[in-house]
Amino acid sequence: METEIIKIDRERPDMEAFQKAGKILKEGGLVAFPTETVYGLGANALDEEASRKIYAAKGRPSDNPLIVHIARMEDLEKIVKRVPEEAVKLAERFWPGPMTLILEKNGHVPYGTTGGLETVAVRMPSDPIARELILQGGGYVAAPSANTSGRPSPTTARHVYEDMKGKIPLILDGGAVEIGLESTIVDLTDQIPTILRPGYITLEMIQDVLGQVQMDRGLIAADSGVRPKAPGMKYRHYAPKAQLKIVEGPVDKVVAYINKEASGRKKPGIICTEETKDRYRYGDVKCIGARTDEEAIASHLFAVLREFDDDGVDAIYSESFESPGLGQAIMNRLLKAAGHQRIDVTD
Ligand code: TXA
Ligand code: MG
Repeated sequence: METEIIKIDRERPDMEAFQKAGKILKEGGLVAFPTETVYGLGANALDEEASRKIYAAKGRPSDNPLIVHIARMEDLEKIVKRVPEEAVKLAERFWPGPMTLILEKNGHVPYGTTGGLETVAVRMPSDPIARELILQGGGYVAAPSANTSGRPSPTTARHVYEDMKGKIPLILDGGAVEIGLESTIVDLTDQIPTILRPGYITLEMIQDVLGQVQMDRGLIAADSGVRPKAPGMKYRHYAPKAQLKIVEGPVDKVVAYINKEASGRKKPGIICTEETKDRYRYGDVKCIGARTDEEAIASHLFAVLREFDDDGVDAIYSESFESPGLGQAIMNRLLKAAGHQRIDVTD
């Protein structure tokens, strides 16, 4: 299959491209498209056969459910049993935007889309390209991140092409995404609202709207054998080909440790910050942004992990980016990419 890439001019979008994309979706095909978080691989969410194609193209395990993307609030009640008050409050504050809600599904949503679950993940993205595509495609677009299962999520159309070339008919190219990390997932089907995946919308922001909110225990106790509730969070993810290690501690010690380790390698990769980039003497040094600019770090992380694959490095060392805000989401992805290998050089 030929994979066509259509560049969308955000100032003057070509409606014919959207009609073409919408037609592919309505006929049960796949279209990759930008959202404000990462690129998605879309199919008609109400068509079980179409959803199945997503799993095949990504090589994704079939028990890992998809997020259904909508563009209008009134479309929500048509696919869930009920819309709880918390959902209304969160939607008013954060939709359209980088937040996914888990709700009880109704009979319109096939199990092929929810990985057999009685619940469904729903998100209303803010990217105008995503929104127009959803409307043209019939209102309900199932879309995981448009990467091959296990690879870093795509933040540009080129990343999508690397993974999906020959497997899907169309990619809408809207340029680099804004945020670069996937949406925050909030489960509203339990007694207490629970964050299943940290993202741009932080725990504090959700607390501010709902009061009581908790982090899924499977996220905090990542190595303790507690299973994360979002099926996708249990898989090794975002994994670059070389082993990634996260080095934590005072900055001088971190730099010294990484320099020493890197010097013993043939082709090491290093993920560092503006503040430290001139202190690394050896290896493929990639600066991910200023330490104080979490948004820059978030938006560069996946691209940097992919670049190391292209460069063929034999080991990767990363500084740590712990912080109460967006740092939670950044570290969640980085730790998964590292298979939780962290080294503390404090003493
Ligand atoms: O920002 C995003 O959310 C992007 C863009 C394309 O919208 N999408 C995305 O989809 O990240 P994906 O498939 O890569 O991740 C969806 C996550 C998985 O961890 C999955 O297990 C979880 O959401 N999930 C989906 N439905 C669920 C459900 N009913 N209950 C619990 N977790 C669910
Ligand atoms: Mg994904």
